[in-house]
Amino acid sequence: MTDATVVAGLGWPATGGVVAIDSATGERRSANGWPRISGTIDPTGGPSNLEREISVNAGDRPAEPAASTHGRSAADLAGFAMAGSLADMDTPIAREAAVALMAVGRRTAPMPKPDQTRIMVVANQKGGVGKTTTTVNLAAALAVSGLRVLVIDLDPQGNASTALGIDHHAEIPSIYDVMVEETPIGDVVQKVEEIEGLWCVPATIDLAGAEIELVSMVARESRMRKALDQHLQSPGVDYDYVFIDCPPSLGLLTVNALVGGDEVLIPIQCEYYALEGLSQLLKNIDMVRAHLNRDLAVSTILLTMYDGRTRLAAQVAEEVRRHFGDTVLKTAIPRSVRISEAPSYGQTVMTYDAASSGALSYLEAAREIAERGASGSTHGETIHG
Ligand SMILES: Nc1ncnc2c1ncn2[C@@H]1O[C@H](COP(=O)(O)OP(=O)(O)OP(=O)(O)O)[C@@H](O)[C@H]1O
Ligand SMILES: [Mg+2]
Repeated sequence: MTDATVVAGLGWPATGGVVAIDSATGERRSANGWPRISGTIDPTGGPSNLEREISVNAGDRPAEPAASTHGRSAADLAGFAMAGSLADMDTPIAREAAVALMAVGRRTAPMPKPDQTRIMVVANQKGGVGKTTTTVNLAAALAVSGLRVLVIDLDPQGNASTALGIDHHAEIPSIYDVMVEETPIGDVVQKVEEIEGLWCVPATIDLAGAEIELVSMVARESRMRKALDQHLQSPGVDYDYVFIDCPPSLGLLTVNALVGGDEVLIPIQCEYYALEGLSQLLKNIDMVRAHLNRDLAVSTILLTMYDGRTRLAAQVAEEVRRHFGDTVLKTAIPRSVRISEAPSYGQTVMTYDAASSGALSYLEAAREIAERGASGSTHGETIHG
């Protein structure tokens, strides 16, 4: 696929069409400070697009755990849920209660375990598209749903480690030691305290030099694969998912992730220029598949930072879906203040505000991924370049 087919084919507006988004909050509010509400919610917990229509992330209120929605009784909450449509609820608390209830309900529903460990490489050489946010929140969503998940931070920025509350100062044993010194993954992995079933291999700033150090090393492209193979075969190691958070480049670190993984997950930000460079990524994936890892497939595309109130976001989403079909998850992740706040507390949005629209949408996206990967799933469509 060439750049021309990817970009021109996606119907980008030649000029204009960009709707400004509040960069501080990412959301617009009505005069009383509450986000505008439109549309309805399926009380059974259905549509992921609820996130773009609702935000319970109002202003500066402290995060509320899902189960403590303003001291309402279960009967009150059930009443709100029965009401079914958020549009019918004219108080903010009612809306929040309904969303919280849905969150609690979804969290208790089990997600299918894959037959074998699925290694998902979260890649897009474009910076700031939501790779790290997607990695940590999908991982957390799967873990809170009862699965065992490992996050490998392969970005010298160490953002995934930060978001998971994992210490990653320079002396901490990290993915650098694995890639350069051949230290076993088991020696550097850390448990994520807040979430049962979630582990992390941190990245430290040392990794910035690894890109160059790897150049002269033996089997420089397959060091991650070797380390992962060894780790996954170790006694007592039994992950359902491994997520690898890539840096925003197509260098040797990303190549190592692509050689080490089974599936590529590409987050695409619903913004102007979002697709530039995508064809280069797909070409690189093709090359890795041809020479180094023939089982690699782009299994999942996730639309991120979706703002349903802008025409541009809707256009991008529509064109991406038209080109990439079922590979694109039905769930789009909305722009959400809670999602962007969570890392500064060393948390994922799943623990920071489980009832928020961001948490719900990542939970829904995780469910789609888990159901697609379940044995007997008919979802077989993957992109090959
Ligand atoms: N759905 C969202 N709503 C609001 N803010 C978001 C959302 N997703 C991500 N962000 C914010 O956007 C910024 C970039 O996200 P993130 O760090 O996940 O991107 P990235 O692709 O990993 O970046 P890099 O290429 O630097 O590794 C972060 O500040 C993050 O908090
Ligand atoms: Mg990142």
